[in-house]
Amino acid sequence: MNLEYLSGFGNEFASEALPGALPVGQNSPQKAPYGLYTELFSGTAFTMARSEARRTWLYRIQPSANHPAFAKLERQLAGGPLGAVTPNRLRWNPLDSPSEPTDFIDGLVGMVANAGSEKPSGISIYHYRANRSMDRVFFNADGELLLVPEQGRLRIATELGVLDVEPLEIVVLPRGLKFRVELLDAQARGYVAENHGAPLRLPDLGPIGSNGLANPRDFLSPVAHYEDRKQPTTLVQKFLGELWACELDHSPLNVVAWHGNNVPYKYDLRRFNTIGTVSFDHPDPSIFTVLTSPTSTHGLANLDFVIFPPRWMVAENTFRPPWFHRNLMNEYMGLIQGAYDAKAEGFLPGGASLHSCMSAHGPDGETCTKAINVDLAPHKIDNTMAFMFETSQVLRPTQFALQCPQLQPSYDACWASLPATFNPNRR
Ligand SMILES: [Fe+2]
Repeated sequence: MNLEYLSGFGNEFASEALPGALPVGQNSPQKAPYGLYTELFSGTAFTMARSEARRTWLYRIQPSANHPAFAKLERQLAGGPLGAVTPNRLRWNPLDSPSEPTDFIDGLVGMVANAGSEKPSGISIYHYRANRSMDRVFFNADGELLLVPEQGRLRIATELGVLDVEPLEIVVLPRGLKFRVELLDAQARGYVAENHGAPLRLPDLGPIGSNGLANPRDFLSPVAHYEDRKQPTTLVQKFLGELWACELDHSPLNVVAWHGNNVPYKYDLRRFNTIGTVSFDHPDPSIFTVLTSPTSTHGLANLDFVIFPPRWMVAENTFRPPWFHRNLMNEYMGLIQGAYDAKAEGFLPGGASLHSCMSAHGPDGETCTKAINVDLAPHKIDNTMAFMFETSQVLRPTQFALQCPQLQPSYDACWASLPATFNPNRR
């Protein structure tokens, strides 16, 4: 299956799987073409500023309203409720692959969250592990989903069409969009940020100008594709943190045509136009922001998705690794491939670390000593892709994250070997 995509970010796209399925000149004609039903899918309040508004018109075989009551599922999301608050720096090894048949929903494990899913802002972070395709369909009433695959390719069949995504690509699924995750390889593993706040968008570029970082044309949305299937399908939703399900007698992925800007999209992180210093020092890591979910305070993000891609290091007379720092923001990091330039060991692909508000961190002892003593020459950090979910509210680990065997018992020790080199008699 060779998939087609629509290119651009935030565009008003239009797509039809049958010729003439999309009404022309109006949204809700008395009789939609082909006997389809019209449905509005709103991702923002009706009265948001035009530049913020997200909505898509759907022309579908059955309206979404055609479903029986949802019942709470016995098997809820793994991870459990939030655990004790801790100011400590935490790091986890990658979670094991599941031994039982596990689809994307069963394989989601809650790791950290700002607050409960009922809050209209904040984020929750999950890891996923799966070894079988979903045969059910899922939607998330609690927020937009940003998927960061680390292992295994996924085919994501959505109401608006089909996206294939592989490690080093990401996909964003709007709040409420129905989808089914199929595996294209035997195993799949990765990270999910659930964004309860304003939808993700491209960051402003300020003095950088009109080009650079993630460019709009590299964001790809699917074309219309529908399933006209009269087969029993379980529809699962996540609502205020709980899973509920109902049984349909048809596939809910039955949208024949659509137009709008509330759409799923994918992006290849290898297309990121990385910008850095060509003189000395290095800019703040906000220079690596791919997508941002703003708050009502200008410049304060509910969620920044930041990457650390391959790049040339050329700064003269400069401590080149990420500096030691303490931040207002809370940082949850993951690694898709390779090694991260601030850590010599212990931070593995599929693993994660949490540095909360004002917790001191930076390069480990080995990386620091090497960076101070190395002969500086241009060199390329290659074959790597680390990333960060950064948020303005403190992240609390789940009970699972605090108790799992993957939690490293001695993360603090990676800074213990920093030698005392101060000598008041030698400048
Ligand atoms: Fe940091």
